Amino acid sequence: MEYFHQHLKIEYKGDADLVTAADRASETLIRERIKALWPTHDVLGEEQGLSDLGGDYRWYVDPLDGTTNFAHGYPVFCVSIALEHQVVEERSSGKRGSRIAAVVYDPTRDELFAAEHGRGARLNGEAIQVSKTATLKESLLATGFPSHKRHKNPNIYFYHQITLHTHGVRRAGSAALDLCNVAAGRYDGFWEFNLNPWDTAAGVLIVEEAGGKVTRFDGSAFELNSRETIASNGLLHQALLDEFREIFAGRGLEPLPDPRDYKR
Ligand code: IPD
Ligand code: CA
Ligand code: CA
Repeated sequence: MEYFHQHLKIEYKGDADLVTAADRASETLIRERIKALWPTHDVLGEEQGLSDLGGDYRWYVDPLDGTTNFAHGYPVFCVSIALEHQVVEERSSGKRGSRIAAVVYDPTRDELFAAEHGRGARLNGEAIQVSKTATLKESLLATGFPSHKRHKNPNIYFYHQITLHTHGVRRAGSAALDLCNVAAGRYDGFWEFNLNPWDTAAGVLIVEEAGGKVTRFDGSAFELNSRETIASNGLLHQALLDEFREIFAGRGLEPLPDPRDYKR
């Protein structure tokens, strides 16, 4: 928050992919704290990459999720941290990650979302649950648009179609908070293309522990490297998957109004 009140220099990782001193300082601090307590744990952080010590535990750190908002003074951003236990697969020789704990902290609202596998999700210590909205037409959803490779992203079509079939689709600029808002029942669902493991690792566990569901766009199991995220309260998950199937097939698309016709 101290950084937020200063005018930080914006640096670019891509043509619209921003980073600030706050992102870097936050990750350095989180890594120092983890290392002091658990020196053998691996850490994957957005700014410094993977420190792979071959440990059984891996932390996923997004030191500042919502950097574009942060850099413009728009108060929607958070810190997202998740812990995964690497389980040895019996059938293969590989390892599978099992998410065991997660925290997302929004310092602007002083809201701490937390979850532990099998023990529910909490907001500032109080248990939270997903919403009970059962139909898309009564739902409020959220999505996001990447800053990286944005010309290749088809999400504007999904945004348009799903906006017409719901109470609306918010686009607030922090995927980790979007997921937490599904967990807290403020949104009924969320989707995004091409998120990274540090964006989703904590929020997905928090949604699941709040009674929600997270899958890929075809309904198959979500994995951190899936790059497809659909989260919901569970009740309208199938309806959302059906929308995706129809949009991907190009069926029943409401045409986008032509701005030239509007102008005329
Ligand atoms: C971004 C935010 C945003 C999402 C982008 C992410 P960052 O993370 O979560 O909501 O739409 O895809 O990259 O860069 O602010 O950590
Ligand atoms: Ca992020
Ligand atoms: Ca980030």
